[in-house]
Amino acid sequence: MKKVTKAVIPAAGLGTRVLPATKAQPKEMLVIVDKPSLQYIVEELVESGITDIVIVTGRNKNSIEDHFDFSYELENTLQKENKIELLEKVDKISSMANIFYVRQNHPLGLGHAILKAKPFIGDEPFVIALGDDIVYNPERPVAKQLIENYEKYGASIVGCQEVALEDVSKYGVVKPTENLDENTVAISDFVEKPSKEEAPSRLACLGRYLLDGKIFDYLEETKAGKGGEIQLTDAILKMLQDGEKVVAYEFQGKRYDIGNKFGLLKANIEFGLKNDETKGELKNYLKSLKLD
Ligand code: G1P
Repeated sequence: MKKVTKAVIPAAGLGTRVLPATKAQPKEMLVIVDKPSLQYIVEELVESGITDIVIVTGRNKNSIEDHFDFSYELENTLQKENKIELLEKVDKISSMANIFYVRQNHPLGLGHAILKAKPFIGDEPFVIALGDDIVYNPERPVAKQLIENYEKYGASIVGCQEVALEDVSKYGVVKPTENLDENTVAISDFVEKPSKEEAPSRLACLGRYLLDGKIFDYLEETKAGKGGEIQLTDAILKMLQDGEKVVAYEFQGKRYDIGNKFGLLKANIEFGLKNDETKGELKNYLKSLKLD
């Protein structure tokens, strides 16, 4: 079995749900406490054993490349001022993984964005981490959970959690058939953004996948689906229907949808309450608010 060392982060979306913050700035660079949200995702991947990451970008996304690059001026200044702790924090960012970039030249959907990574991934199994979803689990990062599950079953994996029935229409939703273990289920269907009535369950894909490289053959054949976009969900379903092994894994961790305003606020408050520098003051501040 091939070791999983590669990952793709699609980050080409326009971020319309958090405009105007994303007018001239990628949504993946919006800050959660003291780091852009994308850095949390890259760190999750690195802590999971991923060494090579492709970020699929688009127009206006240059600050992403700058962020993960070596910053000579800044590092030199921090060195001169003897700000060693900060220097280490900054320096780590440019050396934690090999990061490659490809542009999604046409906004044709998530499936199309993933297909852009084909020359880089080849036929290897790889992780997909969507730029909108931060999942917090300091003991067992979610990508690592998926990799361990892949090593157990040798199957492609859709990372899921149960969502409220009102929310199923925001996600790709699986139809579970039999339990393989406490957190893993075999599936027979995968529907992109179904209505409440059509939803085959409440088990929704929340932004993490581990897929066999065969997915690219399917993506090449996938026509525009829901919303007129080439959907990753449709390609995974076809792969499943062709008899390839695909399972759903209910990952452990708290997920934040940072592609919308409330998700961003929640992430900032909760990560602020975990951060050593901010937790004391933030807790007191929140307690002092007279909310009605
Ligand atoms: C995408 C996928 C969807 C998945 C969701 C997770 O949708 O198409 O299947 O459930 O991400 O966040 P998007 O949120 O990009 O519309």
